[in-house]
Amino acid sequence: MLQLAQRMSRAKPSAIMVIADRARQLKAAGRDVVNFSIGVPNFLPGEHVYQAAREALKTDTGGYGSNRGRDDLLDAFLKHLHEGGFQGYKRNNCAVAIGAKHMLYNLAEALLDPGDEIVFATPYWTSYVDIAEILGAKITLLPCPPEQNYKLTPVQLDKALASKPKVFLFNNPSNPTGMVYTKDEIAALAAVLVKHPDTWIITDDIYNRMVFDGVGYHNFVQAKPELRERTVIVDSISKTYGMPGWRVGFMVGPAKIAQAVVTLNSNHITSLPEVVTAAAVAAMTGPQDVTVAKCADFAARRDEVLGALLAIPGVKCPRPQGAFYAFPDISIAFGKSHNGKKIENDTDCCAALLDAKGVACVPGSAFGEPRSLRISYTCPRAQLTSGLARMQEFFAELK
Ligand SMILES: Cc1ncc(COP(=O)(O)O)c(C=O)c1O
Repeated sequence: MLQLAQRMSRAKPSAIMVIADRARQLKAAGRDVVNFSIGVPNFLPGEHVYQAAREALKTDTGGYGSNRGRDDLLDAFLKHLHEGGFQGYKRNNCAVAIGAKHMLYNLAEALLDPGDEIVFATPYWTSYVDIAEILGAKITLLPCPPEQNYKLTPVQLDKALASKPKVFLFNNPSNPTGMVYTKDEIAALAAVLVKHPDTWIITDDIYNRMVFDGVGYHNFVQAKPELRERTVIVDSISKTYGMPGWRVGFMVGPAKIAQAVVTLNSNHITSLPEVVTAAAVAAMTGPQDVTVAKCADFAARRDEVLGALLAIPGVKCPRPQGAFYAFPDISIAFGKSHNGKKIENDTDCCAALLDAKGVACVPGSAFGEPRSLRISYTCPRAQLTSGLARMQEFFAELK
């Protein structure tokens, strides 16, 4: 029989999409569903972005573009970096991709041979595992349970890097937990990284503009500039500008890695479309008021979500300070029943919550933490309030 490549036996569809599909099915069947499952920002960019796209159509050449990304797009990214205190990067340190996901795939392809070790914390964004598995890398997970606020400690990192893994992958602010590392926490981890020069560092910082409580966004390169030589920072317009469907991601790092990504782009995608490039440039260089307002809105929503969750007896939730997720520990439900349905684990809990109350959340096991579930809180505000009330009802009805 004709066979697919072996790597496809390791490739899985995203667990988040499975829940989202079930929620869509219930909705299509007429159920009132509140969808807390998909990590979309749920807002649109300013009118100037659409105007730039329309203008670009008028001058469209219909041709291919640069494998690295058009100069004005790279410059817009560099401007954002410079404003954030990252000095000295040039165009040859940068490359674009079809979203941060594609960039992460590119980077994994550029840095990992089959059997090479990649290290990252749990809870993790699901695609980290999926991408590494497709490429046949050896994954080492560093468990960061709710008791340590889902954050990696310097001691854990130090131990993990002793085996000289090829890549350490880090995510700040975090999807799924919403955790943000403070300046001091980043400095402490950076001090460990300096001691282990044989490991590449990838920081997935795509939520860097969605940080609350004045914690600020910090990166290892700011704490220890010598780490620049082996650190790649990943960014994206998806969450910052409400443009996930436009598919623009970035990297900045060593020129050698940027060049590798350019080479992969030249074989995978050639270039980003011209209209998309123009819209991304407008988003990044135009007024930033939508992004600023959304960040304030997400902070207020975080307060509502956290208040509602902490009011449920036995539910614990480390305080999210960025992105738009909360990741409560709901293990209090395990061993109980809802409407006669036994809840043994996070998947049972999410299935019962969806069936009984029409609230779709993603089981924590999809992110490597089976005691929790993920709430993405970007849906319309009235739905958010209703969904949280339904969750409270659900937990109150457990027997
Ligand atoms: C942590 C993290 N990294 C990367 C991505 C991918 O973003 P993009 O839409 O730019 O591909 C996501 C999307 O949810 C994410 O949460």
